[in-house]
Amino acid sequence: PSYENILVSVVGTKKNVGVIQLNRPKALNALCKPLFVELGKAVKEFDSDSSIAAIIITGNEKAFAAGADIKEMQNNTYSSNQKAGFLQEWEDVSNCGKPIIAAVNGFALGGGCELAMLCDIIYAGEKAKFGQPEINIGTIPGAGGTQRLPRYVGKSKAMEIVLTGNFIDAHEAEKMGLVSRVFPVDKLLEETVKLAERIGTHSPLVVKMAKQSVNQAFETTLKSGLLYEKSIFYGTFATEDRKEGMTAFIEKRPPNFKNE
Ligand code: HXC
Repeated sequence: PSYENILVSVVGTKKNVGVIQLNRPKALNALCKPLFVELGKAVKEFDSDSSIAAIIITGNEKAFAAGADIKEMQNNTYSSNQKAGFLQEWEDVSNCGKPIIAAVNGFALGGGCELAMLCDIIYAGEKAKFGQPEINIGTIPGAGGTQRLPRYVGKSKAMEIVLTGNFIDAHEAEKMGLVSRVFPVDKLLEETVKLAERIGTHSPLVVKMAKQSVNQAFETTLKSGLLYEKSIFYGTFATEDRKEGMTAFIEKRPPNFKNE
């Protein structure tokens, strides 16, 4: 399909990495509804395409995304938000079974920061700036900022970010655990593709199980999370790929995973 607000491509030496580039540069990739509808569609398509191992969401050098579209939201009301199910398209991204990596150059603010946080891994270029500046415009984060940010960085830092609206740079973001690695601006995408390709060498089935299990850590108590993990771990023994992985190790050869 052709999109107006995003660019979609397939990259990597094995052509198994799906890249979605947010593409409203004039508005610093503000996340208007049509953009999010397209983003959700593109994620769903890659998720159901068996040739794709991992998905990258990125922006441009100036902005990953500067937030929800303030011009679009300006005249919303409480009841219009309720009736339209404002933001429900975000579910399409968070429901994806495959790994999604955010490659953030430039601004990741408000909904942009929240979009990065609902990805599985965040890589940043060294000029990236993160923030939840909603408080500056009289509202609060509405797509996970008050819930996911404390899980990444702890309460005190999350409160500081949400209550001041101040931005933090890539190195601070890495230090506090929001971002897993920082790269020079022009190396970010290729490093992110390398990460996706590395993930792509593993069994897609087992990668999905691992993602599900890590995500449980944010949903439940330690005891039930450990139970969940155990059942997924046992479950890997029902796969051909688990058998192949261990056999290949013992036979001192690379595994040939079949996604079975
Ligand atoms: C709509 C936006 C926008 C946004 C930037 N633009 N951010 N339009 N929604 N969130 C537009 C500007 O209006 C401007 O358009 C153009 O992009 C360039 O922006 P400038 O402000 O001129 O650029 P600059 O001076 O470099 O400043 C960059 C900036 C600033 C610091 C990122 O744009 C900014 O503060 N943006 C808003 C950030 C924000 O508050 N985000 C949170 C939104 S609320 P024109 O037409 O004037 O050239 C939110 C709620 C989340 O995300 C709830 C769940 C989704």
